[in-house]
Amino acid sequence: MDAKPLVAIIMGSTNDWDIMQQSARALQDFGVAYDARVISAHRSPDLLLGYIEAMSAQGVQCFIAGAGGAAHLAGVIAGKTTLPVLGVPIPSKYLKGMDSLLSIVQMPKGIPVATFAIGEAGAANAGLFAVSLLALNDKQLAQKLISYRKKQAEQIAATTLPTLQ
Ligand code: RP5
Repeated sequence: MDAKPLVAIIMGSTNDWDIMQQSARALQDFGVAYDARVISAHRSPDLLLGYIEAMSAQGVQCFIAGAGGAAHLAGVIAGKTTLPVLGVPIPSKYLKGMDSLLSIVQMPKGIPVATFAIGEAGAANAGLFAVSLLALNDKQLAQKLISYRKKQAEQIAATTLPTLQ
């Protein structure tokens, strides 16, 4: 996207993109400009801190952080900025993302991270949550969210189950 990004999506590894593209997709669907990067809290800490500073100066409104395993990325971001940080636990090979979830959700008092579900649903919801945050000051975006919810309700209402044979 060419417009000035309002949301920064950071993930710890290229391998996280499979999941984190759901955040990007949600933002794109609502026409919200974002910047998405792979930056690791432990493999490239200096790059991470510089990026957070640069994006904050450019006017992003929140950060979405996806990480797996000992997932400290969201917590490090939250330690560097007072902007809202939305954490997405990435499913991990051995512990299936429980390690990621607990690492992100158990932030010590004083430095909050909003934690979402493990995997695709969490990534998509983090994107939608970022849209909700932006919609607080954007009536058009708020209207789009209402239509999006209405469509979901209509789909449920129109659902019929097959008759048993
Ligand atoms: C974290 O470690 C990443 O967020 C990723 O989910 C996990 C494993 O990284 P790779 O070894 O797959 O690059 O930093």
